[in-house]
Amino acid sequence: MTNGELFSMAVKAAESSYSPYSKFRVGAALLSGDGRIFTGCNVENASFSLTNCAERTALFKAVSEGVREFRAIAVAGSSTDDFRKPCQPCGACLQVLSEFCGDDMIVILSNGFFKLSDFLPLRFGAENMK
Ligand code: THU
Repeated sequence: MTNGELFSMAVKAAESSYSPYSKFRVGAALLSGDGRIFTGCNVENASFSLTNCAERTALFKAVSEGVREFRAIAVAGSSTDDFRKPCQPCGACLQVLSEFCGDDMIVILSNGFFKLSDFLPLRFGAENMK
């Protein structure tokens, strides 16, 4: 699985986006440690704050199926059908990803690939509660 292929799967996942309010479609494709792929899209709600982002949809699908180790996530977002502009994961998604993913987790966007720690260098985690 190449970075480009994972990104294409994120673009494809955005087709299922339920985003009648923002009209911003987001798709995510999450590659697990054992090579499986879990996709997700944003799911909005008339009560706006209940919206679930694409990244968290993909992660929750994986964790709910017993998968907790991940190598990479690709994210694609657009209000047109042009996914060339990068869509960075929001802060909430970074925090949720950080529960299961190390600093070296690869984050693939339209403009290249990064590490989770590029976006969230200092995270709140279980160790902070000891
Ligand atoms: N969104 C995501 O799905 N992922 C992100 O990381 C950023 C934002 C969604 C939430 C909402 O449905 C729309 O994009 C506009 O904020």
